[in-house]
Amino acid sequence: MSAPRVAVLAGGLSHERDVSLRSGRRVAQSLRGSGCEVVVLDADAHLLPRLEQEAPDVVWPSLHGAVGEDGALRDVLDLVGLVHVGSGAAACRLAWDKPVAAQVVAAAGVAVPGEVALAHTTFRDLGAHAVLAAAARRFGLPLVVKPARGGSALGVTVVREEDDLARAVAECFAYGGTAVLQRFVAGTEVAVSIVEVGGELRVLPAVEVVVDGGTYDYDARYTAGAAEFFTPARLPEDTARRVADAARAAHEALGLRHLSRVDLVVRRDGEPVFLEANTAPGTTETSLLPQAVRAAGLDLDAVYRDLVDTALRTPAR
Ligand SMILES: Nc1ncnc2c1ncn2[C@@H]1O[C@H](COP(=O)(O)OP(=O)(O)O)[C@@H](O)[C@H]1O
Ligand SMILES: [Mg+2]
Repeated sequence: MSAPRVAVLAGGLSHERDVSLRSGRRVAQSLRGSGCEVVVLDADAHLLPRLEQEAPDVVWPSLHGAVGEDGALRDVLDLVGLVHVGSGAAACRLAWDKPVAAQVVAAAGVAVPGEVALAHTTFRDLGAHAVLAAAARRFGLPLVVKPARGGSALGVTVVREEDDLARAVAECFAYGGTAVLQRFVAGTEVAVSIVEVGGELRVLPAVEVVVDGGTYDYDARYTAGAAEFFTPARLPEDTARRVADAARAAHEALGLRHLSRVDLVVRRDGEPVFLEANTAPGTTETSLLPQAVRAAGLDLDAVYRDLVDTALRTPAR
């Protein structure tokens, strides 16, 4: 087969534009190294004409935030008949909406923290104070407040005092119309990357994330040295197996494809608790998926190339 022509999509107008550009450049570099012809395109008004002009064999959306993960762009790629690396539009929509994803994953038998999703209007109509007090009573403190749809920990706050709840929720509404108030899960934070290579689903070794202060926030993610990673995670063998099984169950229940990263917290009793599934996992130098690929003893360039080949075998919709 001649070298596949790949269009890597990076940038986009999201809070995570900068991360996306770094992720995309890294994938492009890797694919060029394995013989692909690669163009990197931004997700802007020029995208469709550029795609028509370039006529790539495969599109690799490396866009984070809504534009890359809410499924809409995948729909457009389907519309113009282009195959793409990663999950289909419907699966992206499921995973992107955290409260919906939590329900789907819980129904597949994986533990979830327990939460309430509050639309801005509900919050206003029922009275902020009463709603927050009820959530604090039900789930206890600390409570995690996060946007129902979002990424890179933007808008996520761990609230330890009931008096601080209202402000955290108000800040969260800056990122979208629905806030999730979720039970805080104490334990070991892990990220499990899953890739479909050589025709099979491979659950890669979990990466353990340790951050000073506990929350894996935006700065900790993208500042070298701000978080410490252990790959594979320092878990007993049977716990590591439970974690891998839970991640695979989440990936499959959500109908994800080709690559994903499932984030969980392993409770002290060894139970893996699902936090979220990412359909556009970061691929920057410090991202977790590349670390997991290397920890599995796989060659990163070969895996990315294999994902392109896997997508090429996926029929266009
Ligand atoms: N229920 C929770 N219990 C403990 N920590 C949490 C919980 N939810 C989120 N966190 C912390 O906040 C970070 C970001 O939350 P997450 O739901 O993964 O949002 P994002 O999509 O922005 O990454 C997590 O990596 C974790 O450190
Ligand atoms: Mg996360």
